Amino acid sequence: MANASGFFTPSVPSLRSRIQPPIGIFRSGSRSPEGFSTRVFCSSTTEGADKLASGASSSESRVPRLVSQGCKLVGCGSAVPTLKVSNDDLAKIVDTSDEWISVRSGIRNRRVLSGKESVTTLAVEAARNALQMAQVDPDDVDLVLMCSSTPDDLFGSAPQIQKALGCKRNPLAYDITAACSGFVLGLISAASHIRGAGFQNVLVIGADALSRYVDWTDRGTCILFGDAAGAVLVQACDSEEDGLFGFDLHSDGDGQRHLNAPIKENEMDNTLGSNGSVLDFPPNRSSYSCIQMNGKEVFRFAVRSVPQSIESALAKAGIPGSSIDWLLLHQANQRIIDAVATRLEVPPERVISNLANYGNTSAASIPLALDEAVRSGKVKVGHTIAAAGFGAGVTWGSAILRWG
Ligand code: ACO
Repeated sequence: MANASGFFTPSVPSLRSRIQPPIGIFRSGSRSPEGFSTRVFCSSTTEGADKLASGASSSESRVPRLVSQGCKLVGCGSAVPTLKVSNDDLAKIVDTSDEWISVRSGIRNRRVLSGKESVTTLAVEAARNALQMAQVDPDDVDLVLMCSSTPDDLFGSAPQIQKALGCKRNPLAYDITAACSGFVLGLISAASHIRGAGFQNVLVIGADALSRYVDWTDRGTCILFGDAAGAVLVQACDSEEDGLFGFDLHSDGDGQRHLNAPIKENEMDNTLGSNGSVLDFPPNRSSYSCIQMNGKEVFRFAVRSVPQSIESALAKAGIPGSSIDWLLLHQANQRIIDAVATRLEVPPERVISNLANYGNTSAASIPLALDEAVRSGKVKVGHTIAAAGFGAGVTWGSAILRWG
């Protein structure tokens, strides 16, 4: 099992002068030419977080600010396929009903790719909308992170998105594969590139088409998933304006047995002759299996791990849960969302959910729900959001952030 929290900040002396008091610092040793040096890891905390925490008990508040370069979310966008598939439509192809699906999952409709639509076209549309809201020209983007487990190209789609957006300076563009946690991992990666490497404008896109890997005869899984894309523009800013207060990331390969779509090797018969010569070539042809899932185990994993992760990210940010304006979870199942909200004591009116309309859209679900909430006026500039992703891998993680 692996986990990560906070950022490595190389300049220890300059940090020391800024740490008042020295709490929330985690040290680990590393060899340097001078001997055993100290690396300081810290959560990302800001004045904004301190202000929010001012109502909290002294033990919860005042985690020192340690970032020298801030980052903030300044634009969002989304795109969904035109084909709408209702629960009643699914009841025509598998033995299910609108009642069963909506009671067990909260899902009523989903969108599915058709015609010329692709994961890339949706991602480009979502990214364009995010750039437009942020008022950032494609030429000023210096990194495109495409979070997807279903890219149109095995080698990744980010460079094609970079090209389609018309980013003339050819910014770095690459894919992140982490299923339903992909967008949260993309956000933290964007922050790391901005804080650690001087990037200015990072597009983080979450886009997936799990419909391509769903077994449409399996009523246990085909009812859950839909296709979509969402995007945010993360921009460098002064540390005082920093909008990423804390985060918490994990992975555990042991959980993969409960949720996967492994490679399928179609071994050809009689590929080798008796003398070892190749009779048929290629010997193997590969494709991916459909999604295989133990729903109950995934449900248990999510309800157990997600609240712990959010509590950990909140603690690192020095923000009490009561200061959060919105809880924004990966949209997998309304019962998971409700259980996590109950555990964190977040009232239903502060929980963002659009699952009923789109189902589980994997890496797209968080930015899609964020975009709808921002554009409808629910989420306003300055609001604090606790976002959490979880899914295949298994991976899970949270980020405490401010919109705008
Ligand atoms: N319609 C009607 N009956 C169904 C259906 C259906 N679509 N699917 C299953 N059933 C039946 C089962 O066969 C079972 O019948 P039985 O009691 O006669 O054996 C009964 O309903 C109960 O099935 P369960 O699987 O126990 O139902 P459960 O309450 O666990 O709900 C569900 C299933 C909705 C899949 C739930 O477990 C869930 O949402 N789990 C989380 C899944 C998830 O979030 N996955 C995505 C992770 S994100 C990623 O990375 C891709």
